[in-house]
Amino acid sequence: MKNNLAVIPKMFKTNFGLFSEITKGFWRMGKARHLPKKDYGHNHFKNLALVYFKLTGSCNLRCVMCGQYGDKGVMNDCAAEESKKILPLETWKKFVDEIAPQKPVIYVWGGEPFLYPDIFPLCKYMVEKGLFVSVNTNGTLIERHAETIVRDRWSTLFVSLDAFRDVNDELRGKGSYDKVIAGFKAINREKKKQNVKYPLLGVVTVVTNKNYMDLANLAQASREYDIDLHIYNLGTYTNDSIVAAQKQLMKEKLDTEIDCLEAYNTGYNTGIDGIKLYSILQDIQNNNYGHPIVTVPFLNPEKTHTYYAELETPVRNHCIVPWCQANVNYNGDVHFCADYPDYILGNIKEQSFKEIVNGDRANCFRKAIHESEGGMFPGCLRCYQNMLFGNRIKGF
Ligand SMILES: C[S@@+](CC[C@H](N)C(=O)[O-])C[C@H]1O[C@@H](n2cnc3c(N)ncnc32)[C@H](O)[C@@H]1O
Ligand code: SF4
Repeated sequence: MKNNLAVIPKMFKTNFGLFSEITKGFWRMGKARHLPKKDYGHNHFKNLALVYFKLTGSCNLRCVMCGQYGDKGVMNDCAAEESKKILPLETWKKFVDEIAPQKPVIYVWGGEPFLYPDIFPLCKYMVEKGLFVSVNTNGTLIERHAETIVRDRWSTLFVSLDAFRDVNDELRGKGSYDKVIAGFKAINREKKKQNVKYPLLGVVTVVTNKNYMDLANLAQASREYDIDLHIYNLGTYTNDSIVAAQKQLMKEKLDTEIDCLEAYNTGYNTGIDGIKLYSILQDIQNNNYGHPIVTVPFLNPEKTHTYYAELETPVRNHCIVPWCQANVNYNGDVHFCADYPDYILGNIKEQSFKEIVNGDRANCFRKAIHESEGGMFPGCLRCYQNMLFGNRIKGF
């Protein structure tokens, strides 16, 4: 796989509508790259391109590498307490009314978003407002809801699968693979019955040292399920010294104590043979299992080893997230960093979202990150949002 940008024409061929929507979103995010970063009086609300809806912190699985419920997950001790804090449907709808005119791409996640009791009326409401609604789920609960998901025209359903059956279930929980496959079949049946293309089905795989040798088996198996796209997320990882540097920086510059980064200090990156991994991905691409594949981040194959073995080496910099994206947590708190919700910008129960993203706390964060080396913090080195939207460093 010389350059996996080569899959873009293939994606357009697969589904022109979807990929032109995504392209528009990326284009708006690209624009954010050129905004005057020091203009703290700017109306950032106008540049909103992507909003993460973290509907719940609850989850029915315990995936080993997960920053919420994995070996070092931050939710492990407080899940029951946090589950009481979810927002009512009406609060989410009011928030949707506020952001809909900006037409951001919506990414729904959790925890497991299907555990939010009003996920269906909420997603329906967003689709009716003309928003592109993408839901990321562990897929164990989709079978029973397939008819509604298809009827309500969700745009994409990204389902997490990390390997073929046995390896997947070791990582994500016994029986989870078969539940996902039953869900794929049910969605495809419904799409046929209702004669529609949506939602497009994506598989998302987090690459770890536990599953990378099994990726070809998963790719081979998934050819049967009319997948539209397979994303290989190279994974969010950190180490002791990066955590220490981030702790110090967040305390000094933003007076914030952090817990969330340490949850990705799992060691599941160690020992991954970069050359082997790229040859596995290359074989998957050459075999053409009927759907495009992409890695996040796009990476020079020769640098795969660096990605896993040298976590201090940046592969992306100049994070643009604070200029065009935000995550709203299950309790209404707003953050820029979806996986590291330590620094709170405000809460949508108390203030309008526009006030929050144009407010002092948001601007303090923008200033701190802009003034940091390479326009990012140490904790951004393998952050998923930075891997997707950061500036590609030459050679990587
Ligand atoms: C936290 S989950 C929430 C949504 C849903 N529960 C699921 O599993 O798809 C969002 C995505 O993050 C991925 N993920 C979990 N641990 C990760 C890690 N250490 N690095 C990168 N992605 C990770 C999951 O596999 C999933 O695709
Ligand atoms: S299903 Fe998602 S949120 Fe739940 S433990 Fe797995 S990765 Fe984490």
